[in-house]
Amino acid sequence: MKIKTAILGYGRSGSTLHADPIEKLSDFELTAVCDIDAKAKEKAYNRFKCRIYDDYLEMLRKETLDLVVIVTRNDQHCQMTCDCLKSGKNVLITKPWAINAGEARAMIKAAKASGKMLLPWLPARWGCDLLKLKELIASRVIGKVFQVRRSEFSFSIRHDWQTSKKFNGGYLLNWGPHLVDQPVQLVGQPVKSVYGELKQIINPGDVEDVFFAVMKTEDNVTIVSEYNIGSDKLPNWIIQGDRGTIYVKATEIEIHKAALPDSADPKTYGNQAKTDVIKDSIQGTNMITMQNRYGDSMVIYPHIARAIRGEEQYMVTLESALNLTKLLDAIRKAHETGRVICLAAK
Ligand SMILES: NC(=O)c1ccc[n+]([C@@H]2O[C@H](COP(=O)([O-])OP(=O)(O)OC[C@H]3O[C@@H](n4cnc5c(N)ncnc54)[C@H](O)[C@@H]3O)[C@@H](O)[C@H]2O)c1
Repeated sequence: MKIKTAILGYGRSGSTLHADPIEKLSDFELTAVCDIDAKAKEKAYNRFKCRIYDDYLEMLRKETLDLVVIVTRNDQHCQMTCDCLKSGKNVLITKPWAINAGEARAMIKAAKASGKMLLPWLPARWGCDLLKLKELIASRVIGKVFQVRRSEFSFSIRHDWQTSKKFNGGYLLNWGPHLVDQPVQLVGQPVKSVYGELKQIINPGDVEDVFFAVMKTEDNVTIVSEYNIGSDKLPNWIIQGDRGTIYVKATEIEIHKAALPDSADPKTYGNQAKTDVIKDSIQGTNMITMQNRYGDSMVIYPHIARAIRGEEQYMVTLESALNLTKLLDAIRKAHETGRVICLAAK
């Protein structure tokens, strides 16, 4: 049985990241599209010859749907998700699913009340860099990890709703679901404290285009996440362990290994000897090339189909998505108060 699907919001992301796999995969049938923009509606009709709406509540009343994919502005996600769930539809909600933890909890409540599935879209969890790095860390190629930095840099200037507070734009909500979530997933431990700064540097509008966050996990791993205005030649990941460092630059992973001789405990050496021991034992650099740093829709959508059919557990649990939202809230609160925010232990 095909999964009867509607796309709510046929804009930049809805018409590509989501429409493409729905069109190509035999698991799905695109039944309807809803958008308020005349050009978007025309594009969708010409491509799919499906029913087109500009009122999503009307679409929910008239259509029999197994799944609604919501790809509208951030400020619209919670209300639309709750309405879709209430009308008995499963929902895939793009990132950021919620603008704060209050919204996330409201959507979870609506999902429980309806008995329908709520699937937060966090494609970076399928990112080739994250998946490869998980393997490398588990193999202990750089030993015990004590610090992870995840960064994106660019000089691009936006001119859309993402630059407006009114629509809950801003780069923390836009990029945080990738750049804060990925290193936390990699380290795999709860975060106990957060510091954050937001700045508006070159974008128009009234929200941040730069964020910088420092988090500490329960096992004292330091995580730094940032979206910044700068040269895109800087590494996207730097992962430091007690036996080496991994750099990710775009789609290339560089592994620098340094093994201390068994007898060498750096704590027992003087400064000079400590430096010599580590320098002498550099083991070399490996290079790995990857693809799809922010996940591949053609891989994620078949998983979504299996999850809807009850054959697999959806990889993004509601608890983990709520934890991410709480982290983004804490980064904003740290920025507003100038303080480190401690997160309650479970
Ligand atoms: N990698 C990713 O997962 C990824 C990438 C880009 C965007 N996104 C997310 O997708 C969402 C949309 O971003 P975008 O860049 O595609 O924005 P967009 O502005 O291009 O698209 C939003 C669409 O929603 C439509 N819309 C607005 N109000 C509506 C309403 N009441 N009913 C129906 N349609 C309505 C607009 O007309 C527009 O076509 C954002 O939340 C963004 O964070 C995710």
